Amino acid sequence: MKIVKTIAEVRQQVKEWKSQGLTVGLVPTMGYLHEGHASLIDASHRDNDRTVVSDFVNPMQFGPTEDLESYPRDLEHDAKLVEAHGGDLIFNPEPSEMYHEGFSSFVDMTVLTQELCGLSRPVHFRGVCTVVSKLFNIVQPDRAYFGKKDAQQLAVIRHMVDDLNMDLEIIGCPIVRESDGLAKSSRNTYLNEAERKAALILSKSIRLGQDMVKKGEKDCSKIIEAMKSLITSEPLARIDYVKIVDCATMQQIPALDRPALCAIAVFIGKTRLIDNFFTEDV
Ligand code: PAF
Repeated sequence: MKIVKTIAEVRQQVKEWKSQGLTVGLVPTMGYLHEGHASLIDASHRDNDRTVVSDFVNPMQFGPTEDLESYPRDLEHDAKLVEAHGGDLIFNPEPSEMYHEGFSSFVDMTVLTQELCGLSRPVHFRGVCTVVSKLFNIVQPDRAYFGKKDAQQLAVIRHMVDDLNMDLEIIGCPIVRESDGLAKSSRNTYLNEAERKAALILSKSIRLGQDMVKKGEKDCSKIIEAMKSLITSEPLARIDYVKIVDCATMQQIPALDRPALCAIAVFIGKTRLIDNFFTEDV
C-alpha cells in the first residue's frame, strides 16, 4: 500500500494499472477513517482490481464558522485501516496541490442543494462537487463509493455524474452504526461523555420514524412532529432540521406517496450530527 501526495503520482500509478487492464475503485474521504469508511473500502476491494482512497480535508466545503481547523486528522491510523481493508493507494495531497494559486473554476448545482444540509451550509455542496469532480478527473475510477449517511451528498453526486456525463458508476453503501445505534462519523470524536450519551437521540428518533412508517403512517408532518418532540426531550440536543423529502429531487413532500428520505441534522453541544433513513428500506 502506497501513500502519495501529488496528482502526478496518482496519474502515473493509475495509468500503469489501466495499461494492465485492471479496474480501479475510488473511495473519497476526508480521513480520520472509521468502520463506515472501511465498509466503502471493502466494497471497492470486492468490485475492483485496485482501490484508491483519497484522504483530504477539503477546505472548500467548510463554511467560515465551521470546523475546518479542528477537523480530526491521523494519516498513520488511516494508512493501517486502508491496508487492512485491501486498499492499494492513499492520495493525501496538501491543499496547495488541489487548489493552486489562481484556482477559479467550480462545479455548482442548483435544486438538489437547496434543501437539508444545503440550507444550513450554503457553500458546502459547491465545495463537495468541485473536489469530487477533481478527484474523478485525477483518478479516473471505474466506480466510486459513498456512504448513505450523507444521503444528500450521494444524491447530489449521482446527479452531477448524470448531468455532466462523467463516465463512472456511483455506489451508495449502507450506514454503519456503533453497537448502541449512533451512526459512525469522524465528528463523533468531538463529543464528551455526556454528549456521546445525548447523541443517541438521533438514532432513537430515526427508529421512531421508521416504526411509524412501518405501521403505515403516510402523513409526513405527523412523523416529523413525533421525531422532533423526541429529540427536543434531550436537553443537550438542538434541532437543525428534521425533514422528509422526495429521494430524487430532495424537495419536501407532505405525504409518503413516493420513495422518500427522512433526514435529520441535530447539534449535540457544538457538534452537528446527521442521520437518516430511506422509506424504501423500512
Ligand atoms: O463525505 C466526505 O467525506 C466528503 O464530503 C468527500 C466526499 C470526501 C468530499 O470531500
